[in-house]
Amino acid sequence: MPTWDARQYLKFGDERTQPVRDLISRIRLENPRCIIDLGCGPGNSTEALRNRWRASAIVGLDSSPEMIRSAQAKYPQGEWLVGDAACWLAADPFELVFSNAMLHWVPDHERVCPRLLDQVAPGGALAIQVPAHYDSPLHREILEVSREPAWTDRMAAARSALTNHPPGFYYDLLKPLAADIDLWETTYYHQLAGPESVLEWFRGSGLRPFLEALRDDSERRSLETKLMERYQKTYPRRADGQILFPFRRLFFVAYR
Ligand SMILES: C[S@@+](CC[C@H](N)C(=O)[O-])C[C@H]1O[C@@H](n2cnc3c(N)ncnc32)[C@H](O)[C@@H]1O
Repeated sequence: MPTWDARQYLKFGDERTQPVRDLISRIRLENPRCIIDLGCGPGNSTEALRNRWRASAIVGLDSSPEMIRSAQAKYPQGEWLVGDAACWLAADPFELVFSNAMLHWVPDHERVCPRLLDQVAPGGALAIQVPAHYDSPLHREILEVSREPAWTDRMAAARSALTNHPPGFYYDLLKPLAADIDLWETTYYHQLAGPESVLEWFRGSGLRPFLEALRDDSERRSLETKLMERYQKTYPRRADGQILFPFRRLFFVAYR
């Protein structure tokens, strides 16, 4: 499990929060009494929930004390908890169990997803977004660079740090347990200044386990240089000098 850096993560805060807004806009709940935001990070997703449901009691939970400190500093009157969503159990069910961009950091979705749905009150919803772009150059290139002889032996955990499944997996798992389920995917085309911005983005999320497996800054610089050489080719500049960074995401909302 990598350590998190709220400042690095929020360098692309607006782009990272757009899927939160899109997920919220599709949830068919009028006035959920209590909401939990699992993997709330620095509180950006929790703030979007607050903007939609101003009267709800909203709790933010994250396994990273650094992220919770950052969320708390921005919104001290909120309720913030350090905890592991994979084994979290609600004392009382929540009308909305929400999670944006966290589930892929948790293994064993066969066990975890039904358990999360169990924490939802009747009539409520479990709403989740996970990245679904593991066949993209972003991941293909880091997997190849991670197999360099200099460090491949130390990269096994980083290579398996993220868990992902296709939409049908979540449908088969949750449909029998839910009153209804919506699933969809969206590809965002982020306009970034250049391939170095892709690396900067990745440093705030999926690149962290690979960097943390290395011995020192010299190895980290070497890995990033090799990755950049590849990103220069896989993310060509558009006519105006910008690049388009495609990012596919899977959303599902299961109602009880
Ligand atoms: C990519 S950030 C998402 C932040 C925010 N929800 C958003 O929408 O931008 C992922 C967050 O999930 C948290 N996380 C990862 N594994 C977790 C777990 N097992 N339990 C709780 N939080 C976890 C990380 O600490 C990190 O803050």
